[in-house]
Amino acid sequence: MTSNLLALLLSVIAIILPLRYGCSDIIGGHCVRAHSRPFMAAIRRMNITVCGGVLVGRQWVLTAAHCNYRLEESDTRVVLGAHQASKAEKEQQRFKIMRFFSHPQYNRSSKENDIMLLKLDRMANLNKYVQLFPLPDTGEDIKPGTKCSVTGWGRTSSGKLSKCLREATVEIVDRKVCERKYNKKQKPVNITRNMLCAGGKMRFSKRDACQGDSGGPLICGRKFSGIVSFGEKCGIGDRPGVYTRLTEKYINWIKKTVSRNGEA
Ligand code: ARG
Repeated sequence: MTSNLLALLLSVIAIILPLRYGCSDIIGGHCVRAHSRPFMAAIRRMNITVCGGVLVGRQWVLTAAHCNYRLEESDTRVVLGAHQASKAEKEQQRFKIMRFFSHPQYNRSSKENDIMLLKLDRMANLNKYVQLFPLPDTGEDIKPGTKCSVTGWGRTSSGKLSKCLREATVEIVDRKVCERKYNKKQKPVNITRNMLCAGGKMRFSKRDACQGDSGGPLICGRKFSGIVSFGEKCGIGDRPGVYTRLTEKYINWIKKTVSRNGEA
């Protein structure tokens, strides 16, 4: 009897622990080789990386629109060329944000059009550590089962922000399957064709983005395919993370915004 109880207790712990703690590295990822993702931008406030982003023009960072929260506060900085974003590394270049352009149809509750451009206060110097990431030529959809990577300085399984830049491999999940998981919630969200879902499938090897990874890239076969947008907790259950898909419409919006507002 007591041993049965003990076994039950142990299995409960075995289930709960990974749920609570296995759920937040850029989850299930690893630190990348320093400066091997020279297009990555860290958006930092009060010495915390609040969001990620991608350098798409010498003065332009692409990120998620929901990262616009308190962006105008004076201590917000965009850091390029970072590996350990919280340290002052010699490869880093730091910028203030001159202007930001949230997508005009961004909707906080439906989470549609979660995409934003930041114009930096000056041009970045492009070098080995700081480089542009090209936008995709076409906005074609990514098939379920495709392996992609998500990169950022967001929370890790320990619950803390990652010291180093991390990356995890995630698999594209069918929209309908994904939507069903999100529809069980009190406030259901529709997963539209402007979004992509991706996650780790295996029960105990969760892979996901987490707080602080928002705005960072989802890269599928070397192609910039999406932006970290939202998720339910991190790597919880079988709910995949949701990404803004780089559709043709968004690619055109990016090009138009950049060309109307200064240097590419
Ligand atoms: N919105 C979060 C952020 O601000 C990231 C969401 C990603 N979460 C997830 N489970 N995929 O950083």
